Amino acid sequence: MSTPTRIGVDLGDRGYDIVIGDGLLADAGDYLAGFAVARVAVVTDETVAGLHLAALRSSLEAAGIEVVEVVLPPGEATKDFSHLEGLLDQLLAARIERRDMLIALGGGVVGDLAGLAASMLRRGVDFIQVPTTLMAQVDSSVGGKTGINSRHGKNLIGAFHQPRLVLADVATLRTLPRREFLAGYAEVVKYGLIGDAAWFGALEADHADLLAGDGDAVTAAVAASCAAKARVVAADEREQGQRALLNLGHSFGHAIELEVGYGADLRHGEAVAVGMVMAFDLSVRLGLCPPEDAARVRRHLAAVGLPVGLRDIQDAPWDAARLAAHMRQDKKVRDGRITFVLARGIGKAFLSREVDPAMVAALLEAAVA
Ligand code: NAD
Ligand code: GLY
Repeated sequence: MSTPTRIGVDLGDRGYDIVIGDGLLADAGDYLAGFAVARVAVVTDETVAGLHLAALRSSLEAAGIEVVEVVLPPGEATKDFSHLEGLLDQLLAARIERRDMLIALGGGVVGDLAGLAASMLRRGVDFIQVPTTLMAQVDSSVGGKTGINSRHGKNLIGAFHQPRLVLADVATLRTLPRREFLAGYAEVVKYGLIGDAAWFGALEADHADLLAGDGDAVTAAVAASCAAKARVVAADEREQGQRALLNLGHSFGHAIELEVGYGADLRHGEAVAVGMVMAFDLSVRLGLCPPEDAARVRRHLAAVGLPVGLRDIQDAPWDAARLAAHMRQDKKVRDGRITFVLARGIGKAFLSREVDPAMVAALLEAAVA
């Protein structure tokens, strides 16, 4: 096994390492040794439990750590109030104390929910992220955003609560279905579109190994993504400014997710892919971005098999006014105005609160037509 890659998230006394490697689950007990923890609650979902919980459990037990398991149903619908309540209830029933730790073993759903539970349980316990989807390894496990969805919108209830460690075992991705892998790939592309045109160009030219799950290519993509995210988070932990760039495509994407319904057949990364295409199209309509750049974004996402338009998500009619109303519930709304992530080209994203709502309405009308 090659030496794991370590990336620091530089947040002073809340700082932590992201460790990326092949086969890390088997060494989890060693990685936890530094925390002198005697008991952990591993929060996971049924699918991940069947595939990866035993390996984590035996490594922890071999290190003398007692393990409590909480297994939740898989899928976005689990990120809600009722499952948060159920999770907290199980943790309290198991008498998880402040000196114990939570471990989120799974994708972004488990990580966001368990992270929020950790921020609330007995007013806050430490937690560790062990992400098992590409989405979670390149994005959601890093940065301390935790949360659940509401009927009013995505991730509207949550807290900033940084993990103490992120253990990204790329071996777990070998059991990930192709569709889930692709959804995570949308966020890998996002880092290029925001601020690294060379990274986007490299993905455009050579993505076959990564999408085939080649260990070195996956490790390199996870490491590059985490390094990019760690830099942004260290500079703007609580999203007072530049961190909002990481939401490229998300204002549109979250509205799409709300409209389709969280239990439905739509992956977060798929909604983000369509949202990024819409953000570039909006930038072109505003005269800010060369049309060729927007065309490249659409072409690449479509070429790898991601949806690039609303019709790729569902055939049923879409309603532009409803999508616009959902967008106004976005967390980045201030005084009723949405903060948009726009682009002057690939790798040149920026924030704007000056977008004329009529332009957004026109874009949405065109998208639903
Ligand atoms: P997910 O957690 O629902 O996982 C996708 C599916 O893959 C699930 O059915 C899960 O059971 C299964 N799975 C997980 N690991 C597996 C493995 N190794 N092998 C086989 N199956 C496996 O979804 P996701 O795409 O990981 O995350 C999406 C969520 O993350 C969304 O709710 C999104 O809002 C959130 N998110 C949060 C942040 C953040 O900064 N907190 C960033 C990005 C996304
Ligand atoms: N996924 C966006 C962020 O963490 O800020």
